[in-house]
Amino acid sequence: MTKIHKDVSSILFDEQVIHDRIQVLGDMISKDYEGKNPVFICILKGSIIFLADLIRSVDIPLEIDSMAVSSYGNSHVSSGVVKIKKDIDIDLFERHVIIVEDIVDSGLSLQYIKEYLAKHEPASVKVCVFLDKPNAHKVPVQIDYCGFQIGNEFVVGYGLDYGENYRNLPYLGILKEEVYQ
Ligand code: IMP
Ligand code: MG
Repeated sequence: MTKIHKDVSSILFDEQVIHDRIQVLGDMISKDYEGKNPVFICILKGSIIFLADLIRSVDIPLEIDSMAVSSYGNSHVSSGVVKIKKDIDIDLFERHVIIVEDIVDSGLSLQYIKEYLAKHEPASVKVCVFLDKPNAHKVPVQIDYCGFQIGNEFVVGYGLDYGENYRNLPYLGILKEEVYQ
């Protein structure tokens, strides 16, 4: 047993389940965006692993870009005040954009990112998220492609962190209570 695995109390979705679900999302996107050369925007850092797997399940031409945002305020509660830490590089004017997010909790980050990207006058903006916590939304969010819906539990792995750790767990898990103390 290695250091990070021993901190996990349970596995919510294992590698195979994640892989199979992402292939379904990839197939939907390939069909919906045929001939559109979409730009996938990876929201750093949590979406890195999801994006890497997602784009390899898509079999049409596409481009990738990335953006990093940080949410101010209490670390456990989203404040809705978002700061851009890394901007996009590609000109999105009249492009078809797919925002790739790790997880939607309050929905405030996604709302901000969507409004920000809309200012670049893209042809369309859709949202693809690995995880959604529907009971935690504080604002209405339109999610076009969703990997899995979960409850309000705090999850780690497959790119998602707790204090910048556990992103490299290959599965999605829940940490033992004692880790948070
Ligand atoms: P929102 O603005 O509240 O929707 O914030 C979403 C962001 O909060 C995500 O991009 C994650 O960085 C973080 N987050 C929310 N829930 C979790 C979780 O269960 N595990 C890890 N990060 C989370
Ligand atoms: Mg995030």
